[in-house]
Parts: sequence; structure tokens; C-alpha cells
Amino acid sequence: MRERLLAAEKVKAIDWQDGVLHLLDQRLLPLEEVWLAYDSAAGVAGAIRQMVVRGAPAISICAAYGMVLGVKARFSAGQDWQQALEADFQLLAESRPTAVNLFWALNRMRERLKRLKPEEDVLAALEAEAVAIHESDREANLTMAQLGVELIRKHGNSAQTLLTHCNTGALATGGFGTALGVIRAAYLEGLVDRVYADETRPWLQGARLTAWELAGEGVPVTLNADAAAAHLMKTGNISWVIVGADRITANGDVANKIGTYQLAVNAMHHGVRFMVVAPSSTIDMALTSGEDIPIEERDGRELLEIGGKRIAAEVETVNPVFDVTPADLIDAIVTERGIVERPNAEKMAALMSRKRLH
Ligand code: MRU
Repeated sequence: MRERLLAAEKVKAIDWQDGVLHLLDQRLLPLEEVWLAYDSAAGVAGAIRQMVVRGAPAISICAAYGMVLGVKARFSAGQDWQQALEADFQLLAESRPTAVNLFWALNRMRERLKRLKPEEDVLAALEAEAVAIHESDREANLTMAQLGVELIRKHGNSAQTLLTHCNTGALATGGFGTALGVIRAAYLEGLVDRVYADETRPWLQGARLTAWELAGEGVPVTLNADAAAAHLMKTGNISWVIVGADRITANGDVANKIGTYQLAVNAMHHGVRFMVVAPSSTIDMALTSGEDIPIEERDGRELLEIGGKRIAAEVETVNPVFDVTPADLIDAIVTERGIVERPNAEKMAALMSRKRLH
């Protein structure tokens, strides 16, 4: 299946070329396809904060390239460059708080710096590490897609109706996608009749990005308002809700795009299976439960305005952009290390002690 998946890769949103990071501006999709170029760590931090690039694995890859840009500038400035580099680590770490992949990638870059040998070319070593982070996410996507398809097949071999939330595809990762990677692979295997895409208010990742990615590949996709999901689960013959994750804690709780928790509650009520797909870089074994996950709160203008045009009454807003789904509402967490069914602390620890499957 791997070769078929690779052949199906179409969209690319992160491109590292000759020491410059090029990003497809996700704020403008699907109406305009504009690429922006970044040559500084501060620029990359800004792109992550302003959501030029978004999605947990994608922002981790960009943070790694951001550190390469930081090293390039600091190293050529000379003396005490490693200390000066701390400002870049800090800036990138502060860009968004919830997806742990970002901190995982920054830690990997820091560890690589610590392991530098005197004879090594600093910039080449750090660039190779960032490229390895990018490549390993791509590989993880392919492994998860295959495992997710096996899991769907285990519960039914006919074409099924699926529902997804937010965007977890090529735009959100270094490759094929996490949840959307499983969905795309399942489609190639003839296991998908239709995909419902939640529009994902307020930023509309589902309407603007997921619908665009799926339609571009000919996958039958139907866009629905987030509030229609329970009704669709009751009437639409949905067999799986499949979502990504921004941080999974040691007990199997999952932080993902706001609205995921209510999907899981509704899935449990309607007997719809609930699958989370994420690479192990999303797993934070340092946090015992989802209660400890920092939840990003974004500007209320995301609720009050659409495309810069005011649509709401002049009132106070609350705009948490992630929520936490408790482990006991989750049927399976699919990672590149394997699948955890009915997750709990013991099973998560066993998963993390395993090696990656590829
Ligand atoms: O705010 P976003 O668009 O960065 O949120 C993205 C999500 O919540 C995704 O579901 C998650 O990062 C998994 S992406 C593979």
C-alpha cells in the first residue's frame, strides 16, 4: 500500500529550498495559492503564530527549520552564538502553546546541538536534523495510514461513511496526513463511501482546507456545520469519527481542535467508533492527564468577524481553540508505533516503550 500512498501525494505546504523555508499560506486557501518565504527564526515564529502554517506536525517541522535559520544567523555573528540562540528557541516555543510536537522538535534540535562534535559543520548538522524530523513525519504518516486502514477493515470490509474534524491532511503534516491520511488511504482501498467534514468554526479548517484537499483527490466529501454532527451520527449511518491530536497525555487523554470533545461524547451516545490518529511526537508522557494541557485561547475577533467583516453583536467572547477528550471516550489511538485500543495509562506506557514500526 505504501507505494500507492506515495503516488497519491499531491499537496505540499512546506518546502525547504537552499536554506529558505517556503510555506503555502493556509490563511488564503482555498481561494488563493500563495507561497511565502522565510529566512529567519523570528519570521517562522510569526508564521506559526499567525497560522500561515498550522497543524501539530507541520508546526513542529517549521520550528525545526526555524532553528536552522536561527543557527545560520547566530553562528555567522560569531562569539557566544549558542547563548544568543536561546532567544530563537524562546520565540519559537512561545508561538503556540498546545501542540506538544512543537516542543518535541525544539528539544530534538537542542539535543543535536549538545551532541555536536568539534569537527562537525554546525549548520549542516542542524539542517540534517530538521530534514530528518520532516522525513520521519512523512514516514510516520504512511505507517499510520496503513494501520488505520487495517483497523477500519477489522470492523467492516464495505465502503463506509466517516466524519472528520479540522484539517489533518497534507497541509497539517510533513506528508500524507494523520486522520486524513487514514481517510485518504481507506478511500484508495475502496473503504469509503462518503466523508463528512465538519466546517470547524471559527477558523474553518474543515471548510477551507479539508474539503479542498479531499475534493482535489476526488474523495466524496460533504461539508457540514459543526452543529450538524450529532444529527448526522443519528441519521447518516456514520461508522467512524476520525480525528488528529495536538497533545496526548500519559493516560490517553487527547487535546485536539475545539469541538472534538463534543464529537466523542456524541459518538459514544450513538455507537459510532472514535479513532485518534497521531504520531508519537504528539504524546506527552510528562503530563499525567489532559487537565494539565495548556489550552490556547485566540483573539475573539475570530468569532466576531469573517474575512475582516464584522458578523456578531458587540459582546464579550471566549475562544479556546482546543479541547480535551477523555481517554474513556476513545476507541483507538493510532500511532506509527502501533495501535492502542481503549487507551489507558498502562497501554500508553507500553506503546511508548515500543520502537517505531518503520
Ligand atoms: O489550530 P490548528 O489548525 O493548528 O489545529 C489543528 C488541529 O487541531 C489538528 O487536528 C491537529 O493539529 C492534528 S494535525 C495532523
